[in-house]
Parts: sequence; structure tokens; C-alpha cells
Amino acid sequence: MTAQLIDGNALSKQLRADVARRAAALRARGITPGLAVVLVGENPASQVYVRNKVKACEDSGLHSVLEKYPATLSEADLLARVDALNKDPAIHGILVQLPLPAHIDAHKVIEAISPAKDVDGFHVASAGALMVGQPGFWPCTPYGCMKMLESIHYDLKGKHAVVIGRSNIVGKPMALMLLQKNATVTICHSATKDLKAMTLQADVIVAAVGKRNVLTADMVKPGAVVLDVGMNRNDEGKLCGDVDFDGVKEVAGYITPVPGGVGPMTITMLLVNTLEAAERG
Ligand code: GUN
Repeated sequence: MTAQLIDGNALSKQLRADVARRAAALRARGITPGLAVVLVGENPASQVYVRNKVKACEDSGLHSVLEKYPATLSEADLLARVDALNKDPAIHGILVQLPLPAHIDAHKVIEAISPAKDVDGFHVASAGALMVGQPGFWPCTPYGCMKMLESIHYDLKGKHAVVIGRSNIVGKPMALMLLQKNATVTICHSATKDLKAMTLQADVIVAAVGKRNVLTADMVKPGAVVLDVGMNRNDEGKLCGDVDFDGVKEVAGYITPVPGGVGPMTITMLLVNTLEAAERG
């Protein structure tokens, strides 16, 4: 193995200790940072994610409320709950876990969240703020990736960053954050003609597709930094990312593992955003 690991668990531990300190300082002023997590339906993966988010809040001294509703909840009732949480002074951050049942318009629900409480960074106002470089909440997964680059003191100025994936949650905001740090950014996706030709030029590669082995060793320039956002299962049912870790680690300069890489950072940045929402008041 030539690549150095960027350990998301270790970095999360540091950042969460800082969150806990700042949360204690707020509590001393009579403000307990509060996150509301809303889950509609029984999606098993969502149930795990939501449980982890609530537990992370408790561990860092943040107040959290988990609201669980049956899959039959109407859109109007969900919008009414969001409206009540917008007005609740004990709640600083609101997260509606996605995906939502098909009869609910997820976009409409996200737009109903007050941008001041949009700790997921999914609201159009948050996306717009990121695009024009104004203060606002950044989506947690790409924000976590930026913190990982910061942790290795990586200077993005003039570097070529290739993002594989163009989702609203990861790929697009990731590209904007890298651009803001003066990288030259390429976004690749399912219609990209020659992905390997792109990634071979990259100093930094972010793989965020949701498919195993999207990035293999022959596609990576020696010494490149590789961030793996994927969360997949291999044939043995083991958690794996989008990157062929065993091959790529022999070529890359830095690499994030799965599990223990970007995953824990996503929840950490949710805590950071919630804390900042409470600090902004
Ligand atoms: N579903 C999968 N990831 C996420 C996330 O980061 N936030 C929300 N709200 N739903 C998700």
C-alpha cells in the first residue's frame, strides 16, 4: 500500500469533540442546540441512518427529536409538521430523511423547511447561497469531503478535481466547493464519453455514483487524492464504496476507506451545521 489513509472516524472524533465543547458553551448561555429528524415510512436503510444521527446528537450534547410517521402520512400533514418545527424555538435544525413515499413531493417538503434551519443544505436557498459564495448551510457529505482535504492540508489552488456523479446532494455541491477553493473542476456522469481519460488527469477524484468499482487503479494518476463517497455491498454482502480500494490504494497518494471514511464525516457535518444554526440563533 502506498496511499495514506484519510481516517474519517479519527477526524470525526476531533471535530465532534469541538462540537461538544461549543454545545456546552451554548448550554451555559441557556441554549441547547436542537435537531428534529423526521422519518416517514419504514425504509430499513433510512431507519439505520436516522438512528445514527440521533445517537450522534446525544453523544455531542445536542438535543434531538425523532418524529416517526407511517408511510401513509399525507403530504399536507407532513408540511404542517415542518411548519410547526420551523416555529419551534427549541429546534435549530430540521432534517426530513429521504427518500419520502412516492405520494409526497420531496421538493415541496424541502422547500417548506426554513432556510435558517436547513441543516441538510438541500433547500434551493442553501444551494443558491453555495453557488454565489454567500453564508448558508452546505450539504453534509461534500462538506465532510472538504474537511478531509483540509485535514491533510491539501491546497486545491490550480489543481484538477474530477467529480464522478452529478447529484444535487453530493456531485453538484462538491464541484462548487472545490471551485470555491480555486480548483479546476470537471464533473463526470453516466453520459461522459471517456471517464478514464478524465480521471487520469485528476489530482483529486471524488467518486459519488453509488456503484462498485467505478474507479479502478488504471484510471488513477500516481499520487492523486481519492475520496470515496459510495456506500454499496459487494457479493459477500460487505460494505464497500465506489472505488476499487485494494487496487487504487497502490497508486493513489491518499485514499478514504469504506467504511470509516466519508460516512462518519456526513453525520459529523450535520452536527456542525446544527450547532451553527443554534449559534446564529
Ligand atoms: N437520505 C440519504 N442521505 C440523506 C441525507 O444526508 N439527508 C437526508 N435528509 N436524507 C438522506
